[in-house]
Amino acid sequence: MKFFIDTANLADIQEAQNLGVLDGVTTNPSLMAKEGICGAENVVDHYKAICAITDGDVSAEVIAVHYDEIIREGLELAKLDDRIVVKVPMIREGIKAIKYFSNAGIKTNCTLVFSAGQALLAAKAGATYVSPFLGRLDDISTDGLELISDIRLIYDNYEFPTQILAASVRHAMHIVNCAKFGADVTTSPLSAITALLKHPLTDSGLAQFLADHKRVSEGNN
Ligand code: E4P
Repeated sequence: MKFFIDTANLADIQEAQNLGVLDGVTTNPSLMAKEGICGAENVVDHYKAICAITDGDVSAEVIAVHYDEIIREGLELAKLDDRIVVKVPMIREGIKAIKYFSNAGIKTNCTLVFSAGQALLAAKAGATYVSPFLGRLDDISTDGLELISDIRLIYDNYEFPTQILAASVRHAMHIVNCAKFGADVTTSPLSAITALLKHPLTDSGLAQFLADHKRVSEGNN
């Protein structure tokens, strides 16, 4: 399973990259706004800065909602770097645009997916990635993992190559469960990735090992 980081924060992306487990980055307009990135030129520079850190795919979301505009914006984004994946919302115009990009050999991420039917449509249109929003479903007392499982079943039934990119992943157990349910990718904040490191028995075990080593090294057997 691939690990993507869901942020536009360059320091977090660099930290995940340094950890050696980063496979890509996803952003969205809210994450860009959180970093204060606005204006076409700044947005472009920021995507270039992200691509300079990671070796993996970088999802850059279009703001347009009409077909012609989505195509124009997507083509602009795609030419920034080979790693750019054009992120397109799951709307009628978006599906048409995904089909266009797919035919043109441009990678896409169909975002804001909340049902298996939407995921089926995204795969039919040729999306490279589909992004079911796990956490936002959990937020409204709907089982996000069940959606991941349903999409896995459907894609396997028909051997759709579209990768399931579990999004809106909020914590370590989301990541673990996505791995169990067969997601191809999870995208999460850095905190969820680093939380995977933690176990109190690891900490106490290491403290004991180091203390025993020190005692023997000092001749206190
Ligand atoms: C997906 O690509 C989105 O950027 C993201 O995962 C949304 O997460 P949130 O629900 O925590 O905002």
